[in-house]
Amino acid sequence: MTTASNFDIFLICPPGLEPLLAAEAKESGFAPAKAVSGGVEVQGGWPEVWRANLMLRGAVRVLVRIGGFRAFHLAQLDKRARKFPWAEFLRPDVPLRVEVTTNKRSKIYHAKAASERIERAISEELGAPISKEAALVLKARFDDNLVTFSLDTSGESLHKRGFKPAVNKAPMRETLAAMFLRDCGYDGSFPVLDPMCGSGTFVIEAAERALGLAPGRTRSFSFENLASFDPEVWDEMRAGVTPKPTDQRFYGSDRDQGAITMSQRNAEAAGVSEITDFACTPITALKAPEGPKGLVIINPPYGARIGNKKPLYALHAALGTTLKAEFKGWRVGLITSEAGLAKTTGLPFKAGPYVPHGGLKVRLYQCDAL
Ligand SMILES: C[S@@+](CC[C@H](N)C(=O)[O-])C[C@H]1O[C@@H](n2cnc3c(N)ncnc32)[C@H](O)[C@@H]1O
Repeated sequence: MTTASNFDIFLICPPGLEPLLAAEAKESGFAPAKAVSGGVEVQGGWPEVWRANLMLRGAVRVLVRIGGFRAFHLAQLDKRARKFPWAEFLRPDVPLRVEVTTNKRSKIYHAKAASERIERAISEELGAPISKEAALVLKARFDDNLVTFSLDTSGESLHKRGFKPAVNKAPMRETLAAMFLRDCGYDGSFPVLDPMCGSGTFVIEAAERALGLAPGRTRSFSFENLASFDPEVWDEMRAGVTPKPTDQRFYGSDRDQGAITMSQRNAEAAGVSEITDFACTPITALKAPEGPKGLVIINPPYGARIGNKKPLYALHAALGTTLKAEFKGWRVGLITSEAGLAKTTGLPFKAGPYVPHGGLKVRLYQCDAL
């Protein structure tokens, strides 16, 4: 096992969320946690790669840079790819696919020809099967005649926490939900309520964070199929994440009973149902729960994705009225692609950066305690 190695590790996140992911990475002990376009740079050995996959709520994938070389033409690429120490990283019995990105600054700019050379080198020198369906991905990036190899150590996107059996229409990705919660100052120490909870994403993310559960605790990762994987160390790492008790509760409601049943099922699967409450309630009948005040976070329908826009203005106006009347002392965060809908609530929102979500650009609108 190459525990001594110090790799460049790249934590991918949607553009706009880099500073939030950098803050999370820093808080979780990763360094230097530098925010760059599309992600965050950290360094470490394989255990850090595994820990990033296991623990970070905002990363979509974890890439590890395993090396590279200069290549000015295909014959040179072929020769150097054959000498690359693939066996240090890949297993001869695990299929993989190669994804190439090139740009005009490199003499090798034909991605298909480049990937063929790399695939052939790996299959002939190491024996690993190449397959378009392979879960394991080697990324080769050509820039300025330098080819850099990175392994995607996550596999399925990390927003898939691995236990969500039920998904509503237009769900928020867990990674995005976690970062929006963080942007609202959520640190696990106060209640969170989502009055349009759909499949319960915000409520479950918030509850998990309060309990100190590792987001990747039940899923598998591509790094488990790499040469460096040590199941014993990994088991110890997972077992070492001990949940902490919390006094907080987490609330979800929705006017749709189907959504509530789904949220309850998801909360149970995530192991947070003891501290979550879900109720079938329309916005107009919403009341603040007894106990400490916290954060209301909402991802209402925004028209471009589901339904049409006109009734949404009435819905947002009703939402604003209810929150102002019933939620004194609560902070509010609202995610929408429509500035006009956020404005219709009449709440004193500040808008965050644009973030891609489901083919749209959404923003988090947030305000201090009402
Ligand atoms: C975009 S979805 C929320 C998705 C959710 N964040 C998730 O991750 O699954 C919007 C939700 O608002 C609910 N909704 C729409 N109008 C409502 C109303 N008047 N009162 C309560 N919920 C409403 C819908 O049933 C839907 O589940």
